[in-house]
Amino acid sequence: MDDLKEKYLGLIANAADEAAIEDLRVQAVGKKGEISLKMRELGKMTPEERQVAGPALNALKDEINSALSAKKAALADAALDARLRDEWLDVTLPSRTRAQGTIHPISQVTEEITAIFADMGFSVAEGPQIESDWYNFDALNIPGHHPARAEMDTFYTHRKEGDNRPPHVLRTHTSPVQIRSMEATGAPTRIICPGRVYRSDYDQTHTPMFHQIEGLAIDRDISMANLKWVLEEFAAAFFEVDKIEVRFRASHFPFTEPSAEIDFRCSWVDGQLKLGEGDDWLEGGGSGMVHPKVLQNAGIDPAEWQGFAFGLGIDRLAMLKYGIPDLRAFFDSDLRWLRHYGFNPLVQPTLHGGLSR
Ligand code: DAH
Repeated sequence: MDDLKEKYLGLIANAADEAAIEDLRVQAVGKKGEISLKMRELGKMTPEERQVAGPALNALKDEINSALSAKKAALADAALDARLRDEWLDVTLPSRTRAQGTIHPISQVTEEITAIFADMGFSVAEGPQIESDWYNFDALNIPGHHPARAEMDTFYTHRKEGDNRPPHVLRTHTSPVQIRSMEATGAPTRIICPGRVYRSDYDQTHTPMFHQIEGLAIDRDISMANLKWVLEEFAAAFFEVDKIEVRFRASHFPFTEPSAEIDFRCSWVDGQLKLGEGDDWLEGGGSGMVHPKVLQNAGIDPAEWQGFAFGLGIDRLAMLKYGIPDLRAFFDSDLRWLRHYGFNPLVQPTLHGGLSR
């Protein structure tokens, strides 16, 4: 018995892991373990022998069992210590100071414009980029023979041979969203619609895909004065100056009457653009009072409702505000350009926090 005790206590002390402990348990006190077999021999002993051997064997079994559990607990503790040592993390280390990706200037400027108009009670509407002839042209009072159709360098889709319906187009402006939105909500309404538009054109200031933002406000007594105020508020907030004067230049769009081109007062000093002061004017986009036929086409009674609309070029606003010279670079996906002109993805443009920090 002393030999057994010495043997197992030695083996247990040297066991490397929990699996080894389990093996030893089976070997010693399992059903067919060495000590269990010895216990079976008790039956063959004389009562005197049994009185000595019985308690001794039981004591040995207890001792081995407690050595097994003690070693098991010690191994678990050691494993936990090792893990705590390996998985230690210094949470006081500074994190990366700048995220890897950046927000594209177009996304940034779209967010900035949205924040400004949201503050004036406009909500955001969207429409499809593949648009029907009706929404892109006719509903906006641009009939088939109208020169505006030719001017827009439209991309047409194909119809199957023999299908004589007019083809769908890649929308040439965001104005069709005016119609869709008025159809959906009726009057009164106040929306902006930012999005992609397409025209077959390519040079330093034109790409076949670009971005516009449409504005529309319909109510009972809205006038050009409201339009002008909204545009001045917008421009001052967007260019982050106290005040910007807006000038209306008489123009023509089929979907507005009267129509006006929007100019912002500015100056160019040494190639540097300054908004809100000076004797120059910067072209901003088109606008006007929504044509009664357009209201009618969208199911709104022009005898009861009126409103203004405007369309601005997002890409151009981004180029002007952030001094980006070539429009084509916006869509080249050049990582160096994106890192240089991109914005911190962890900062959301807001009016109270600042648009372009
Ligand atoms: N849709 C015009 C364009 O793409 C821009 C425009 C002009 C939109 C006048 C308007 C507007 O809503 O009233 O050239």
